Amino acid sequence: MQWKILDHAAMAPSGHNTQPWTISAVEPERWVLGSAPARWLPAVDPTNRETLLSLGAFLENLVQAAESQGFGVDYRVVARTARDAEVVDLRLKPGAPRDHDLSHLRGRRTIRKGMQPASLAKEDVDYLLQHDPGSFLVFPRGSREAALLAAKTLEANRLQAERSAAQAELADWIRWSDADVERHRDGLSPATMEIEGLAGWYVRTFYDRSNVLTPAFRRRTVELIEALVQEGGGWILKLSADEDPGTLIEAGRSWERMFLRCRSRNVALHPMTQALEEPSCRDDLTRQLGLRRPVQFILRVGYRTPYPEPVSPRRPAAWFLKEART
Ligand SMILES: Cc1cc2nc3c(=O)[nH]c(=O)nc-3n(C[C@H](O)[C@H](O)[C@H](O)COP(=O)(O)O)c2cc1C
Repeated sequence: MQWKILDHAAMAPSGHNTQPWTISAVEPERWVLGSAPARWLPAVDPTNRETLLSLGAFLENLVQAAESQGFGVDYRVVARTARDAEVVDLRLKPGAPRDHDLSHLRGRRTIRKGMQPASLAKEDVDYLLQHDPGSFLVFPRGSREAALLAAKTLEANRLQAERSAAQAELADWIRWSDADVERHRDGLSPATMEIEGLAGWYVRTFYDRSNVLTPAFRRRTVELIEALVQEGGGWILKLSADEDPGTLIEAGRSWERMFLRCRSRNVALHPMTQALEEPSCRDDLTRQLGLRRPVQFILRVGYRTPYPEPVSPRRPAAWFLKEART
């Protein structure tokens, strides 16, 4: 088995770090990328839109890791609906290695706090979006659109904090203690959420699922978001032509290609998805921004120096490898 390829693929981002992927090896070099229902997020992502975007990011990492190992990847999206268990059928073909720097896959991470209040330089924006500029919209700090995105993101977070199903689902995916992080190697840890120092020690030692459901926790989350949406250099939207499974897989790939470029320019990237998850906010945004294509990601961006190391846990490939079909 090509463990190195799969372990690099698994460094991809995913909503709540659920890592919703499975791999079945039909033959040693023919694999099926699948979707794991136990790792879906029905309360915030009932259509599995985000699951497919995460699988697309996984596929992008897989292709880059495979190419650097001397394999080309031929693939076909086989999922007809967002709930199909089998999503991508892929084949590795030996070829000349391509020069991808895998340290980009290992060094990518989500950054939520500490972005500097400066708009991104044009040359950095051009570099980040080079491969697919037409599918991104950039709204710098201070623009009317940036203010609208901040306001709608905050409103959606308020709605979601009050929505018990969404809050309970979040609680299910937080791994408070070090022991839980090690046991599951998925979900959101205190380090992922950038709860550091004494506060980090306190929550790792004393917090559990029930804390997430208290009014005080929900209130503090909204206060944190209120502060964060004011930070950074602006916002980037990722658009797609439609929402078919194949389109979402490609949107996830394209977004990950951009994300993998962020570290080399010290650009922090924070997906803030709640305004896409709450229908009233999504509809308002689409209308007020005059968008004709669906939005797949709302990203807050800004410079952050020094760039921190990744901290989010990952399951090793052996944990998501399924028995091959017979
Ligand atoms: C589809 C999708 C939606 C996400 N939405 C959010 C979000 O709303 N808020 C947030 O803080 N992070 C969000 N993230 C980032 C994930 O939480 C992050 O990728 C995951 O915890 C793994 O951490 P890493 O990116 O540092 O490896 C999202 C990621 C994906 C792929």
